Amino acid sequence: MCGIVGYTGNGKANAVLVEGLKKLEYRGYDSAGVALQHENRLLISKAAGSVSDLEKALDESGNRATAGIGHTRWATHGRPTDENAHPHSSCGKEIAIVHNGIIENHQRLRNRLLDEGHEFRSETDTEVLAHLIETYYEGDLLEAVFKAVEKIEGSCALVAISSEEPGRLVCARRDSPLIIGLGEGENLVASDIPALLAHTRKTKVLEDGEFASITAEGAEIYDSSGRVIDREIFEIKWDIEAAEKGGFDHFMLKEIMEQPDAVKETLRQRVDPESGKVILSELGLTAEEIGRLEKIHIIACGTAYHAGLLGKAVIEKLAKIPVEVDVASEFRYREPLLNENHLAIVISQSGETADTLAALRLARRQDLKVLAITNVVGSTVSREADEVLYTWAGPEIAVASTKAYLTQLIALYLLALYFGDARGSAEPELVLELVSGLKALPGQLKAVLSEESLSRLRAYCDHLSKWESAFFVGRNLDYAVAMEGALKLKEISYIHAEAYAAGELKHGPLALIEDGIPVIALVTQKAVFEKTLSNIQEVNARGGAVFAITMEGFDDVARQVESVFYLPPANEILAPVLSVVPTQLISYYTALARGSSIDKPRNLAKSVTVE
Ligand code: AGP
Repeated sequence: MCGIVGYTGNGKANAVLVEGLKKLEYRGYDSAGVALQHENRLLISKAAGSVSDLEKALDESGNRATAGIGHTRWATHGRPTDENAHPHSSCGKEIAIVHNGIIENHQRLRNRLLDEGHEFRSETDTEVLAHLIETYYEGDLLEAVFKAVEKIEGSCALVAISSEEPGRLVCARRDSPLIIGLGEGENLVASDIPALLAHTRKTKVLEDGEFASITAEGAEIYDSSGRVIDREIFEIKWDIEAAEKGGFDHFMLKEIMEQPDAVKETLRQRVDPESGKVILSELGLTAEEIGRLEKIHIIACGTAYHAGLLGKAVIEKLAKIPVEVDVASEFRYREPLLNENHLAIVISQSGETADTLAALRLARRQDLKVLAITNVVGSTVSREADEVLYTWAGPEIAVASTKAYLTQLIALYLLALYFGDARGSAEPELVLELVSGLKALPGQLKAVLSEESLSRLRAYCDHLSKWESAFFVGRNLDYAVAMEGALKLKEISYIHAEAYAAGELKHGPLALIEDGIPVIALVTQKAVFEKTLSNIQEVNARGGAVFAITMEGFDDVARQVESVFYLPPANEILAPVLSVVPTQLISYYTALARGSSIDKPRNLAKSVTVE
């Protein structure tokens, strides 16, 4: 989710690039840089930190430059440092590139290039591309980019410049967006629209597998065989704020809709296409260490804690290791019984949550290995843990966590399968079913996020928004999802939503069920299906209005409830990845109907860095 800007024209490239990068900082940044064409050489300035930090590091002599490229980085491979910041360049710095995406075969290519005598300056996957292009460069940058991109596997939005071709930008796009901006006597390229709007609203979108050559006079688009493509001009109507949200009204909805891609990115490179085995090469835990584990403690806060509850269920089922799940603020003060044969897993989107950090430090003081699941490369949690399993959700801006939560579930499923494989404790048929089920999730999530689903849920929320309290109920894995659904509704609509184990209603909460009160029931777990149905009947008998989220094939549900939302059929262990999405949309549309502040709800912060 990095930010990319390229400019060629008669203006001051430095200023244009820096202003463009500032418009992309919402996409996350931990370092930034620019490369300018100036007097037959490239001036490269880069800095860890924000674009403002980059401004202080800029080479003044570049102020008259008329072409260049810029980048704000959201680190994936390599910590946020000056050296790892983009642009990356060839050995002699005649070629510089900026890149968004993940080069999956970067290690193999790096080894080959090192053998050929190339010298690397960073630990990033991207730098491999700069040296590859250098290898193929024979005076035409576009030709060299064609050949280099052909050699890489993975996602790539790339813009390259050469000191030998003043005024020319060369681009390539695969899986990661690039948009060309057409100005008067100047042209631009960016990873996202906000960087273009100060200069032009006339754009041409690069499609997957396409390339472009851009100069101040114009832009040509090519397919991978070098054939020119005649692409129509697309006029941008959005204002800057809408553009930052990708045209959505709120970051939360944008991030809900990004979940198929976030899940796909988090799965990328982590399932061996041949064997179907989970490969977590980033973890240093040996099979012997995993075999020796007597207990796992999952510690987190809020939504991350709810992900941990599901992590417990799948790790115990597949790896047969007892798991305890704690809210971090409780864990630290309950004098937990720990020993070196236990593993602590801390889950934190931001990687900066004070309570979770304190729990991590407590576990380390008692000689436990700590594995962190986090979304931010270089975060404190990632630096203090022994092992890190990153989620690749990209920057999550809305306070209410959605795509980060979903990718935390994916990371926990992968971990459970990986541990189960190491301990030989997972049934092979179940493993195969789950691995193929994981691969199917991005497509199934797209189906759940269809226009028809959104309008159905929005209609229900017009009704729900009129209530001041609501219940979420479920059993087994459905109960963990109910807890997450209740938190989402609470934190952005301010309705007092409560999650309860469906079997517990008769032990007290049923007293609160009165005529019409909204009850959202999760019904996806076969083993407890009949029991959950009878709990729904208990609610119906007292006038509660039940909205059920269930799976196609669970036919008896519709007859028992006021309305039902069907999910595509999936293995019930993976059902939470699908069933939580309607609850996210219910909280979003209910908050919308109530006019509350969705991306920045009252009293809350995105990362709670205080106790
Ligand atoms: C999620 O919707 C909440 N905003 C909050 O519960 C959050 O999950 C919690 O503060 C933990 O944050 P972390 O994942 O960054 O550690």
